[in-house]
Amino acid sequence: MIGIGIIGAGGISRAHANGYMQLSDLAEIVAVADIDYDRARSAANQWGVKHAFSDYQQMLKLDQIDAISVCTYTKAHSQPSIDALHAGKHVLVEKPMAATADEAIQMAKASSQSNKILMVGMKWRFMPEVLAAKAFIDNSKLGDIYYAEAIGWQHRGIPGRTFIQKETAGGGAFMDNGVYTLDTVLYLMNHPKPVSVAGSSANIFGHSTDGNWDPDQFNVEDFGTALVRFEGGITLFFAHSWAINFREQWQMRIAGNRGSAEIYPFSNPKLRLMHGGYNDLTEFTPADLPEGSIDINYEIKQFVNAIENELSSPIPADTFLYTNLIFDAIYQSTDLGREVKVDIPDFL
Ligand SMILES: NC(=O)c1ccc[n+]([C@@H]2O[C@H](COP(=O)([O-])OP(=O)(O)OC[C@H]3O[C@@H](n4cnc5c(N)ncnc54)[C@H](O)[C@@H]3O)[C@@H](O)[C@H]2O)c1
Repeated sequence: MIGIGIIGAGGISRAHANGYMQLSDLAEIVAVADIDYDRARSAANQWGVKHAFSDYQQMLKLDQIDAISVCTYTKAHSQPSIDALHAGKHVLVEKPMAATADEAIQMAKASSQSNKILMVGMKWRFMPEVLAAKAFIDNSKLGDIYYAEAIGWQHRGIPGRTFIQKETAGGGAFMDNGVYTLDTVLYLMNHPKPVSVAGSSANIFGHSTDGNWDPDQFNVEDFGTALVRFEGGITLFFAHSWAINFREQWQMRIAGNRGSAEIYPFSNPKLRLMHGGYNDLTEFTPADLPEGSIDINYEIKQFVNAIENELSSPIPADTFLYTNLIFDAIYQSTDLGREVKVDIPDFL
């Protein structure tokens, strides 16, 4: 039986708890920790869990715990993940991996030093359309990839609470939703190395008193765009907004000289795969998609399965951290008003 500890007992922890409870023959939640002890205790009572802590370090001392779900707000992802890995526990950390590239790099290092799984909870990696596109691309159906788009225009999607403060969320629309499209596109392209970024991020609606958030607390971006250059001359256009006066539109598109992959996660058709030449480009979207799901239960199942069968991380930290490198570069480019270089850590 795999013993589970959950750090952070807020909104998303319930989905993690539910995922483990669905796997009761393989995993058991042993403890919950939250800096707000009452929240930890109440979650533990609700889930029938024995131990509740206000200090996760106490929880990490429990030998019955083999693995940890880090469900804290983003600014508190890195330290608990690093401490858990050093305590010999496997870690499933919520998306985004971390608030900064530095934090993400330290997490990836802790995972390789401890030889424990560090998986980032990015459920879109298991979306059937993403899996179909990945197989198509890995089969060289796009030829040479030269351009990609990761776009999420939300019409009215500004959240509240811990999501709108840099001190807890690390950033705004990029950390909350930009990470979904950016990571998916980087994954589909097999993680080309980013070289430079010209980007811009801004707080457009956050200052407004029209919303159901506190404008005085809102200090993150709700909008941003970037052009990312990669090795090999590939470019990627990234754009995300929590609120824009366009209709809602999300898309992840990759173009090669012999084909393309397009995913529209919230509209139909969701997937379009093309292959061929200039005069005979043909649609190859499969009628039957591979098995997969964006349900968090499915993600939890992959984590537990990897531990059970001593597999490597289903969503490894050393690939995921490219999202943090690019977000850092967009913030830096915004501050400097020019294109900036992306520094890739030596171990990548
Ligand atoms: N995968 C998804 O679909 C999905 C959905 C929502 C949120 N998320 C991610 O999950 C994370 C948490 O989101 P949420 O909505 O649950 O946030 P939340 O603010 O509701 O909960 C975070 C909890 O972490 C606790 N916490 C903070 N620092 C801690 C520490 N050092 N030790 C113990 N507890 C600590 C807080 O007290 C709070 O209870 C975010 O990173 C977010 O991006 C993912």
